[in-house]
Amino acid sequence: MAVALYPGSFDPITHGHIDIARRARKLFDTLFVAVVANPHKRPTLTLEERVDITKAALAEESVNGIEVISFDGLLVDCAREHGVDAIVRGLRANSDFEYEFQMALTNRDLAPEFESVFFMTAKRFSFLSSSIVKEIAMYGGDVSTFVPPSVEKALRAKLG
Ligand code: PNS
Repeated sequence: MAVALYPGSFDPITHGHIDIARRARKLFDTLFVAVVANPHKRPTLTLEERVDITKAALAEESVNGIEVISFDGLLVDCAREHGVDAIVRGLRANSDFEYEFQMALTNRDLAPEFESVFFMTAKRFSFLSSSIVKEIAMYGGDVSTFVPPSVEKALRAKLG
C-alpha cells in the first residue's frame, strides 16, 4: 500500500491542483491532500475555508479516495504522523524548479525516509496559479475555466 501526501496552501485549489491530485491518485493507494496553514504567505482564505473548499472541489470533480487534512508545522512531521511513503508536488513552468528543489532537498535532510515525487502539470494549466485566480475574481472576472463552480462561488462570496 503506497501512501502519499500532497501538501500546499490551496488558497484556493485550482484545476491545476486537481489535475495533479487525480494523477497522483492513480499511482498511490492512499492520497492525503494536506492544506497547510502557511502564515508566511498570508492566505486570503482561512484554513477552515481552504479545507472545506478543497473537499468540495475534489468531490465536484469526482476525484475520489482522497483524504483532505490540514496542518500547521513542519511538512515532515505531518508526513510522519500519517505514515506516508512520498510527498507529491506539481511542477509547472521552469520557474517552479528552484523552489521545489530547495524544498525537496531540505525535506530530505530533515527526513530521508520520504521521497519527493513530482508530477508535471497538464500543458493548459502550466501558468495557472491561485494568486492569478484570486486577482481575476477580485476584479469580477470570469474564473470558470480555472476553478470548479464551488470554488468560484466561494471566491465570489469572499472577495465580492
Ligand atoms: O502551495 P504552496 O504554498 O507552494 O505550498 C508550500 C508548502 C505548504 C508545501 C510549504 O510551504 C511547506 O511545506 N510548509 C510547511 C513548513 C515546512 O515544512 N517548511 C520547510 C519545508 S522546506
